[in-house]
Amino acid sequence: MKAIDVILIGAGIRGRGYTEYMTDGKFRVVAVADPEKACRDYIKNKHNIPDDMCFGGWEEILALPKFADVAVIATSDKMHYEPAMKAIELGYNLLLEKPVAPTYRECQDIADAAKAKNVKVLVCHVLRYTAFFRKIKDLINEGKLGKVISVHHSECVGNIHQSHSYVRGNWNNTEESSNMLLAKSCHDIDIMQWLVGSRAKKVSSFGSLSYFCRDNAPDGAPNYCIEGCPYGETCYYNAVKLYLEDEENDWFRGAATKKVNATNEEVEKALRTTQYGKCIFKCNNDVVDHQVVNIEYENGAVASFNMCAFNAGGRYIRVMGTDGELYGDMESDEIDYFSFKTREHTVINPMGRAISGEIVGGHGGGDDGIVEILYKYIAEDYEGDMLSEIGISVSNHATVFAAEKARLENYVVEMKDFNG
Ligand SMILES: NC(=O)c1ccc[n+]([C@@H]2O[C@H](COP(=O)([O-])OP(=O)(O)OC[C@H]3O[C@@H](n4cnc5c(N)ncnc54)[C@H](O)[C@@H]3O)[C@@H](O)[C@H]2O)c1
Repeated sequence: MKAIDVILIGAGIRGRGYTEYMTDGKFRVVAVADPEKACRDYIKNKHNIPDDMCFGGWEEILALPKFADVAVIATSDKMHYEPAMKAIELGYNLLLEKPVAPTYRECQDIADAAKAKNVKVLVCHVLRYTAFFRKIKDLINEGKLGKVISVHHSECVGNIHQSHSYVRGNWNNTEESSNMLLAKSCHDIDIMQWLVGSRAKKVSSFGSLSYFCRDNAPDGAPNYCIEGCPYGETCYYNAVKLYLEDEENDWFRGAATKKVNATNEEVEKALRTTQYGKCIFKCNNDVVDHQVVNIEYENGAVASFNMCAFNAGGRYIRVMGTDGELYGDMESDEIDYFSFKTREHTVINPMGRAISGEIVGGHGGGDDGIVEILYKYIAEDYEGDMLSEIGISVSNHATVFAAEKARLENYVVEMKDFNG
C-alpha cells in the first residue's frame, strides 16, 4: 500500500485538525506552508518535515512543480480560490476547506478547472462523514422512512460560539470573509440536499443581525472588556472571562493569539489589541445572528432550515417520510425513529464510541471520517454517494448563494434562473 503524499497549505486550526489523522501510514505529510512560524513548526515537528519543506505561504510552495499527491487547502475563506486554482493547474488533487470560495463564480471556476485537469477535489463538508448523519442517510437508503417528504433542520450556533467566531472572529464580516450562511451553514444546506437526494428548485430566506450591534451597547461600556467594564460581572460575553480566565479553552485562546498553547501574557495582549478583546456590541461585525431558509427540491420534497445564535448550541433534525419519521439530536447523539407500520419508536445512538466514553474525532467524527474517505477517493477511486466532491458541493453552494440573494432582495429564487 503506497502512502498518499500530502502538502498542507494553511496550518491553522482546521489544517492541523485534518493532518492529525494523517499519521497512520496511509498518508505522509511531506510539506507545510503557513506564514505563522508557530503553526508551521507544529506541523514540522508532528510529521518530521525537513526545514526545506516548510514554506512561508502557498505562493512559495506552489511555485514549485508538483511533488505530492494531495494539497490540503485550509486557509481562510477568501484565500481558497487562488491556491486552489494554482494547485489544480499543477495537477494536485485537493482536500479543500469549505466554503469553496466566497462567490459563486469562483466556486464554478474551481469546479471547471478540476474537471478540465481531471483532478479530484473533496470539499470538507464534514457533517456527511459523522456517524450521526451517516446513520440517518442509511435509514433513508434502507427505505425506513419511505419517500422523504419534508425536512426540518436547526443549526443552533450557540451564543458564545456566535460571539467568538461571528461577532469578534474571522467570520464576522461579509466583505472580509463571507456571509454567515456560507461560512456556517453551507454544511447544513449540503446535508439537507444529501438526505433528500434531489437538487434545490426554489429557495426563500429571511433573517438579520438583530442583537450584536452598537445600538445595544450599554452606557459606559469601554471599547475593550479588559479596560474595566462596569458590566463585566454579568455580561455573558466578557472577553476577560472567556479568553483569559478560561485557560482550558485552547480554541478561543489559539484563535485570539494565533499561537499554539498561548500564554496568559499573549492572551492579555490579544485582548487589548484585537477584535477578540472588544465589547461584543462594538465589533465590526455585519453577519446575521438568525436566518431561516426554505427550499423546495426538484423531487417535490421541501426543507426548512433555521440558523440561530440564541441557544446553547447543537444540531437537530426531523425527517418526515411516507413510512415513518425520525428526529435526531446531534448533541446527545440520539436518533428517535418512528415506524408507521409498527407504531413503535426505536432509539439509536449512532456514535456509540462517544457514549462509552472514548474520544471521537472533531465534528462528531467528521474530521477523521473525511480523511478516511479522502484515502478511499484517491487510492481506491471510491465513488459512493457519501462523497462531497466539488461538483455536488458547488451545486449546494449555489443554493446558499441563492438563499442569501433571496434574503437580501426579498424574493423567491428559482434555481433554474440563478447564476450567482
Ligand atoms: N469544515 C469545517 O467544519 C470547518 C470548520 C471551521 C472552519 N472551516 C474553514 O476552514 C478554513 C480555515 O479555518 P481555520 O479555523 O483553520 O482558520 P485559521 O485562521 O486557524 O487558519 C488559517 C491559516 O492560514 C494561514 N495562512 C494565511 N496566509 C497564508 C498563506 N499565504 N499561505 C498559507 N497559509 C496562510 C494562517 O496563518 C492560518 O494559520 C476557513 O475557510 C474556515 O471557514 C471549516
